[in-house]
Amino acid sequence: MNESRHALITGGAGYIGSLLTSELLRANWRVTVLDSLLFGGESLVGFLHHPNFNFVKTDVTEPRAVRDALTSSRSTYGKAGWPKPDSVIHLAAIVGFPACQAVGRQAAWRYNVEATKQVFEQASALGAGRFVFASTYSNYGLSTDGKPVTEESPLNPQSLYAETKIAAEEFLLAQKDSVTAPLSFRFATLYGISPRTRFDLIINQFVLDAFTKRELIIYQRGYTRSFVHVRDVVRGILSGLDAPEQKIRGQIFNLGTDSGNYTKDEIVQLILRRMPQTIVDYKDLTFGGDMRDISVSFEKIKRELGFETILNVDDGIRELVFALKSGLIRNPQDEKYRNAQFIVQ
Ligand SMILES: NC(=O)c1ccc[n+]([C@@H]2O[C@H](COP(=O)([O-])OP(=O)(O)OC[C@H]3O[C@@H](n4cnc5c(N)ncnc54)[C@H](O)[C@@H]3O)[C@@H](O)[C@H]2O)c1
Repeated sequence: MNESRHALITGGAGYIGSLLTSELLRANWRVTVLDSLLFGGESLVGFLHHPNFNFVKTDVTEPRAVRDALTSSRSTYGKAGWPKPDSVIHLAAIVGFPACQAVGRQAAWRYNVEATKQVFEQASALGAGRFVFASTYSNYGLSTDGKPVTEESPLNPQSLYAETKIAAEEFLLAQKDSVTAPLSFRFATLYGISPRTRFDLIINQFVLDAFTKRELIIYQRGYTRSFVHVRDVVRGILSGLDAPEQKIRGQIFNLGTDSGNYTKDEIVQLILRRMPQTIVDYKDLTFGGDMRDISVSFEKIKRELGFETILNVDDGIRELVFALKSGLIRNPQDEKYRNAQFIVQ
């Protein structure tokens, strides 16, 4: 049934995209990845000889990037004649508030908003049935009443990154009657291993610090955030590709799990269980930027798509420690594992 389906992923070399590529290939999809390889392309090397894998190095801020990629000889291994994509999953972006701050407002807007419009318009022109957009629960900003936020809650962005994601979501909501059905997922903060693991995400970075320095410095220990394993995010995206179209057209879903809402202190306690020798130093400093103190409700995705996560934070900690201890990830300090030079706690 799935044999002939073709997914086009922008940003497919990234943290989520590389694992999504792997899972789609496993489910017999054809996969075309478009990526400008900001952090290298090693994450895709293992797929190069797969008959259902196609890679095109391109920058999706170029207005015809998607169309040209599918027709030009830039496609790897002569796959330019493939059928048009059934679904487009748009992950390419300047990701996270430090990276957006670093490139500035104009560039962040071009990469995260204009490029989304362009990719969507090309997906529609190609007749793609679905367009999946990667948004973030940063859009909710700080919680006002302490209750878990739902997709209906007011948005209160605290960063340029969240502003760009909201603008892109709004554009997509206005396209809900297009031939291409738009669907946005607001991901919780990810953790876990993928072919391009990121160590600038809070859980991954904490595990790395505990493992390498045997020390953790924690700011604002009581802050609640919402977390989800990268593999569950990939499963969530797949459920959006497989769901009946009327369930997803023009919809926004928080993607994560109610049991993934943790205070920073609870995360530290989970890390201490695996690495009890870690020294923890608590500080009260406040930084500007994307400070989230928020719980998120994932009732809608469970109700509408039947989606539930299968991994928890302890699973993620265990696999991170394994990857570091075994040497699977040999030089985790390398800059290719980071989108910006500091993490957001
Ligand atoms: N990781 C998280 O916790 C998280 C949370 C919420 C939302 N998201 C969203 O999910 C998506 C993927 O995130 P990720 O963590 O995999 O990020 P990532 O930085 O690992 O991957 C992004 C990929 O996009 C590519 N890219 C960037 N700009 C491009 C362009 N103009 N043209 C072509 N390729 C380009 C990069 O080379 C990279 O391979 C992003 O849109 C991000 O905003 C991520």
